[in-house]
Amino acid sequence: MLDALSGIVDLERAASVSLYRQLYTQLRDAILNGHLPAGTRIPASRSMAVQLGVARNTVLAALEQLAAEGYLETRQGAGTVVSGQLRRGLMRAARREPDAPPPDYSLSRSADRMAMITRATPDGENPRAFMPGIPDLESFPRDLWARLLRRASHELEDSALAYGGTWGLPRLRAALSDHLREMRGVQADPEQIIVTSSAQGALDLLARAMLDPQDKVWVEDPGYLGARAAFSGTGATLVPVPVDKDGLNPAGNHPRPRLIYVTPSHQYPTGILMPLARRLELLECASRHGAFIIEDDYDSEFQFQGRPVAALQGLDASGRVLYIGTFSKILQPGIRVGYAVVPPALAEPLRSLQRNSGHIAPGVVQLALAKFIEEGHLRAHVRRTCALYEERQDALVSALEENFGTRMRVNRPAGGMQLVAELPPETDDVALARSYGERGIVARPLSQLTLGDHARSGLLMGYAGYPVKDIREAVAACRDIARI
Ligand SMILES: Cc1ncc(COP(=O)(O)O)c(C=O)c1O
Repeated sequence: MLDALSGIVDLERAASVSLYRQLYTQLRDAILNGHLPAGTRIPASRSMAVQLGVARNTVLAALEQLAAEGYLETRQGAGTVVSGQLRRGLMRAARREPDAPPPDYSLSRSADRMAMITRATPDGENPRAFMPGIPDLESFPRDLWARLLRRASHELEDSALAYGGTWGLPRLRAALSDHLREMRGVQADPEQIIVTSSAQGALDLLARAMLDPQDKVWVEDPGYLGARAAFSGTGATLVPVPVDKDGLNPAGNHPRPRLIYVTPSHQYPTGILMPLARRLELLECASRHGAFIIEDDYDSEFQFQGRPVAALQGLDASGRVLYIGTFSKILQPGIRVGYAVVPPALAEPLRSLQRNSGHIAPGVVQLALAKFIEEGHLRAHVRRTCALYEERQDALVSALEENFGTRMRVNRPAGGMQLVAELPPETDDVALARSYGERGIVARPLSQLTLGDHARSGLLMGYAGYPVKDIREAVAACRDIARI
């Protein structure tokens, strides 16, 4: 009777997979492949164990699992047999047939547009000069954070351990409300705040909430790829609107927008601070078109001289500005907490959307963050890192001047974490960035952040995350890699 299994079961004792799992898989595959057709009698467990040289329990466990999943059945007088339900044709679906058409793995059209925008840092790569958007990770108070996380995991209420408040713990929303009003002039009652897993999560949420396919979205050009990805994912049409010395310029003949996306505190990537007159112009333009504005305030706290300019949202009396923030820059991207502040009328539907889209931040991290803000650590951290970033910006600007003279022109931003070094127009910024990349230096070509045909040649260079010594060495290496 054991002949039934010859050529079917071949157990490997040295394998990392258990004997039980091997036996189960080999019998299952033999049934699916038709080598053990319906009705085949399976040998008694005792003799199978002896024959295979394994414990009887191992055999019993495999046979029980196969019976539980419907591969085997017990027949009166016949013992255990391959289930009669599993006729040939039925099992084709579970086999890899050589002539069957392969699955069509192409994404939906909108997902494809979204996935085409790739920005990921390869796994396992540590930040290095001049990856943009990376804060100083050394300054992050790990011990304090570990204590707060520990306290938070003890104190978290049952509702937060279950499905309560997926749009944000009340305590974090209250702390954020005070912080945003005080530091950014944002009008934000806790009920208007939706906590997400990142600014990208908030962008995705707002894009889904406000856009239908073919709606027009004005995006800054050059501009932030993450925002473009989120809008493209809805099937909306991106309308690149050029950035001038005051940021996105709403004057011009562009199709009527449903949404306008801006980074007015430090335009991404140029670092331009949008002056008051342009802000008012933008609000007037949105109101004229019946459009909403998304204000992405991702790194506004880092203003080197004086206080940061108040957010656009605080200037808006009509409820058209949807505000987005993140802890990725002010603390570190690994925290994975962002938020949106929305007009009261949108709060309820967005909470529902939030729950259904799953852009939810872990409760324990939220509670630890609330404590971090309440106890004044956030302000202290911003004060420390802001001074550091100013010093690093100085170091990068002077190193670029010393090594490249006027061939790299820097429009020095009033704050933030990165800057654009403009190159002579004939320079191929993509090729230059590639040659830096081959030597381990990261600089993002400006032309790749531009949609329209007015692309300028330049490099986006982050400085916040790197010590002055690294910055100087990397700039000197750039000079040696290629002549500009
Ligand atoms: C303009 C802008 N918005 C948003 C973000 C992303 O924030 P998060 O990490 O929270 O998605 C970035 C990060 O680089 C950014 O540059």
